[in-house]
Amino acid sequence: MKPLVITIDGPAGAGKTTVSRMVADRLNYRYIDTGALYRAIAYQAKSDQIQPEDDEGLEKMCRRIKLAFQSFSHGQRILLNETDITDFIRTPEITMLASAVSARSVVRAFLLEIQRDMGREKEAVFEGRDMGTVVFPEADIKFFLTASAKERARRRYNEFKDQSKQSLDEVEQDIRHRDRNDSQRDIAPLKPATDAILVDSSGVAAEEVVQQILAEIEHRFGNA
Ligand code: DC
Repeated sequence: MKPLVITIDGPAGAGKTTVSRMVADRLNYRYIDTGALYRAIAYQAKSDQIQPEDDEGLEKMCRRIKLAFQSFSHGQRILLNETDITDFIRTPEITMLASAVSARSVVRAFLLEIQRDMGREKEAVFEGRDMGTVVFPEADIKFFLTASAKERARRRYNEFKDQSKQSLDEVEQDIRHRDRNDSQRDIAPLKPATDAILVDSSGVAAEEVVQQILAEIEHRFGNA
């Protein structure tokens, strides 16, 4: 099979991370979690006390930072100016802040080039919101993964209930709030690319979704 750029977009909690990782593993491809890049920006903005509306402050901040991924057998780490911040970017506060900074064009322009650079070698699964629409409009194959808001909230809640004090209702409210932010912003709003394959994961096990995706890839490009 020729080397591919595969994109998997969709709303928070649709199962993108689990599925994208599994697809990348099966194909022996790199897995790239672009949400972690937005979270890293949010993390630095918080440390520097820069408000998400302060475009000038964000732009200056972006010029000072270097972002990189490091892959290990136990998962992927994100480095911000060489410091591993992976364990600090999943808090509810950074999650909401990441959604806010992701609506700023200075931030999206900064991350666009970083992401495209990562795609040059191909053989990668890119997970995000605008991979198929903006970052890789020429991707070899695009998927848009979705699920009902209730199911997505339930998954997030179960995943983080030991680390977070949020109730299931609060998680669902956050998800709906983020859906609105992410899909109503002017730049790169969350929406399926016209040529994306829609996959609804409500009530479907991750393995089954992965099989569906691999079957589509095989159908188009032959055996891995
Ligand atoms: O996938 P995630 O929850 O880690 O993403 C964090 C935030 O970053 C989310 O609110 C949307 C934003 N994001 C984006 O705008 N574009 C991407 N390609 C990835 C994430």
